[in-house]
Amino acid sequence: MTTGSGLDIAIVLAAGEGTRMKSSTSKVLHTIAGRSVVGHVLEALKPLNPKDLRVVVGSSRESVEPHIKEIAPNATTVFQAERKGTGHAVQLALEGIQAQGSVLVLAGDTPLLTTFTLQEFLDVHLASGSHVSVLTAQLPDPTGYGRIIRDELGAIERIVEQRDATEEEQEIDEINTGVYLFNASALVNSIHKISNNNSQGELYLTDVIALIKAESNKASAVLSNDYTETLGINDRAQLAECASIMRDRINDAHMRSGVAIIDPTTTWIDATVKVAPDSTIHPGSWLQGTTSIGTRAVIGPRTTLKNVFVGEGASVVESNCTESTIGADANIGPFSYLRAGSNVGVGAKVGAYVEVKNSTIGAGSKVPHLSYVGDATIGTGSNIGAATIFVNYDGVEKHQTIVGNEVRIGSDSMLVAPVSIGDGAYTAAGSVITEDVPAGSIAVARAKQRNILGWVLRKRKGSSSDLAARKAGATD
Ligand code: UD1
Ligand code: MG
Repeated sequence: MTTGSGLDIAIVLAAGEGTRMKSSTSKVLHTIAGRSVVGHVLEALKPLNPKDLRVVVGSSRESVEPHIKEIAPNATTVFQAERKGTGHAVQLALEGIQAQGSVLVLAGDTPLLTTFTLQEFLDVHLASGSHVSVLTAQLPDPTGYGRIIRDELGAIERIVEQRDATEEEQEIDEINTGVYLFNASALVNSIHKISNNNSQGELYLTDVIALIKAESNKASAVLSNDYTETLGINDRAQLAECASIMRDRINDAHMRSGVAIIDPTTTWIDATVKVAPDSTIHPGSWLQGTTSIGTRAVIGPRTTLKNVFVGEGASVVESNCTESTIGADANIGPFSYLRAGSNVGVGAKVGAYVEVKNSTIGAGSKVPHLSYVGDATIGTGSNIGAATIFVNYDGVEKHQTIVGNEVRIGSDSMLVAPVSIGDGAYTAAGSVITEDVPAGSIAVARAKQRNILGWVLRKRKGSSSDLAARKAGATD
């Protein structure tokens, strides 16, 4: 396989309505494995490095066009105001183009196509000397697709759409995947000769094949080995089917590179995520965006990470984390919630029912139980007692809390920001800390306890508490 050579023009057809999705979002903008449907197509195309890349947009142009500009800045978008068929879309895409070399045409709704298949198809096409090649597939159920009509010698003669096919032709299980390669000048010569004389009154790109053959030029049908690659998305069920095939593909690749995925059917990893070998992913986990997992890390079960960096040997159990950094050997969860800007240091711990936002927790520090840490910087080796709240919001603005190194915050402390706790300082359990605490001191900020002796014996006479107290020797 010769990667990245031989392709002059690529045309992606993405102007369709996608009516069957029943969605306000354009069909090609729905996502699979963290990437838009058309994004997958463009990603597969990228290594073929077409000199001229054109994407035909139409329906939902206002959202599709900026998306294309963002993910494929080199692409030219072509506007098809009225959807008059795939042939019409290609006519528009070819306007003003320098018709040289080979042209690849494919649909924007086939996200499972791989670079490997496209490159192989291109190599076969170039070697065959054909003026047009069609990528075909044999489907268990070919209903709805254009069928490949071959002559007695097995050469492709033409393509007939389902709606225009005779009963006999409908028996054919070899279908047009909608991926074509053309000799540019042959395509330009014939694309304006097609007519809309068919059941849909559309200009069919598929009619070009018979026209090219009529000019005594060679046409080929190239059967692909894996029909799942060419599955298109028209409705939500097909979207889910393609997503699960993509999931399996991604998980297989990670497992082959040394990642332990305990249950690949419930583990969803975006195409953009990096997972180092020798890490383990437990069932029900969803890794999204730019997430990156270090070696020996343990993720899950039931953990969602979006744009999170997880260091080597860290564990994240039954937790939900976004836009955060988790240092090597840190432990998160179970049931932790790391919101944007959480930065957990090497060997640090964030435990059960702890929420962290926009805060740094230094190396070896611990927030083990039932706490909220917001807009804080915690130094190294500090311990935040159970149920401590960083009171960061005064009702109008957010304020910062600074906790030094080797600090011991007593359970159920309220650290009312802005406030700063010096190195090695303590706070007494149940304190409401409103003033800075100097290094090495203990802050006690709560009412002094008083015991009223015999109160139960006088006020709750005869109760089980009274009896128990008397048995213990209490008197009034
Ligand atoms: C097309 C093929 C059919 C093939 C099938 C594979 C034709 C006539 N038929 O049928 O042989 O088996 O794909 O999936 O080509 N589009 C535009 N502008 C238009 C019409 C379509 O950009 O005016 C785009 C659509 O967004 C889509 C692609 O072209 O991405 C294919 O169009 P679609 O209407 O889905 O064609 P099919 O009926 O599926
Ligand atoms: Mg289609």
